[in-house]
Amino acid sequence: MDEKTVYWNHDTGSINLIEQTALPADYRTVNCKTIERLAEAIRRLEVRGAPALGVAGAFGVALSASLHDDSNMDSFLRLVREDAEYLNSTRPTAVNLSWGINRVYESIKDSSSPKEAAEIALHEAESIAAEDEMMCRKIGETGAKFLPEECTVLTHCNAGALACYTWGTALGVIRSAVEAGKNVSVISCETRPLNQGSRLTAWELSRDNIPVKTITDSCAAFLMKRGEIDAVVVGADRITHDAVFNKIGTYMHAVCAKHHDIPFYVAAPTSTFDAKLSEKDVVIEERDRSELAKCGERLLIPDSVDVLNYAFDSTPVELVSAIFTEKGAIRAPYSVKEILQLKVSI
Ligand code: MRU
Repeated sequence: MDEKTVYWNHDTGSINLIEQTALPADYRTVNCKTIERLAEAIRRLEVRGAPALGVAGAFGVALSASLHDDSNMDSFLRLVREDAEYLNSTRPTAVNLSWGINRVYESIKDSSSPKEAAEIALHEAESIAAEDEMMCRKIGETGAKFLPEECTVLTHCNAGALACYTWGTALGVIRSAVEAGKNVSVISCETRPLNQGSRLTAWELSRDNIPVKTITDSCAAFLMKRGEIDAVVVGADRITHDAVFNKIGTYMHAVCAKHHDIPFYVAAPTSTFDAKLSEKDVVIEERDRSELAKCGERLLIPDSVDVLNYAFDSTPVELVSAIFTEKGAIRAPYSVKEILQLKVSI
């Protein structure tokens, strides 16, 4: 994909992003001129995926800095901080959102004027975006070496170009393997209820002419049992010292992969690591019942029945064969201490 998922529009001085809820039927870009509109885009998943949220949050702070022109630096920083906290409250599980927001906010704290702060913030946000592309390329090169010359890879959700600035983490591994001449085909799990797999992963891979088939999430174990999956590669929203958080359903694939002796790989930049936390500390986002209970106008669940709509789950690191980062691969078996040490060396 040549387009960037989220970027600064220098003509309008605001944020452009690919509107992902409209895909695959309609490809369009939306322009966010206010913090409220950006927050809405994040909540509605118009922009989504951990690294893309990091970039969106970073540009959000740059946007905020450009919108407040209070000459008093203390009150300027307070207003930007409020916007940053508001953006940070939109989605709780992916650590990259707060990482991108904090990195840009920290960069402007010693600025001498709001004008200077706005310039520094934009520069920092653009650096985060450029670094994200470089990191994805490196993650891809590292992970590609782990895939056989000819293989079928199962992936869940969308950890592709649309989930990052470009290229992707899990799909970056697949793109790099194809670029290196490997014959890779992909099984993309539909990823109920918002269908990031069937709508986004299938869309991006087919545009790149990478062979892809979509399955229902519940078909994965059956294909593994039939020997039709050689590896699983997924992205991550947060990696604590003991678990990998990713789209709901990922844990189920990890358990099934272990049972069938299939390698289960995670591809993520080190900005996704949050090694000081444990599995139990992380807030799992719960989304609206309408995502499960309705398909268009059609009712799928009786109004009287409650739903549990967790957007993410956690996979213990013991089930992960290797984690591909921009600094190389971290291989199993891990211990808590090793992961913490790796985080320090990372
Ligand atoms: O709810 P989403 O679509 O933001 O969830 C995205 C995922 O779970 C991705 O797999 C994860 O963010 C990794 S993206 C490189």
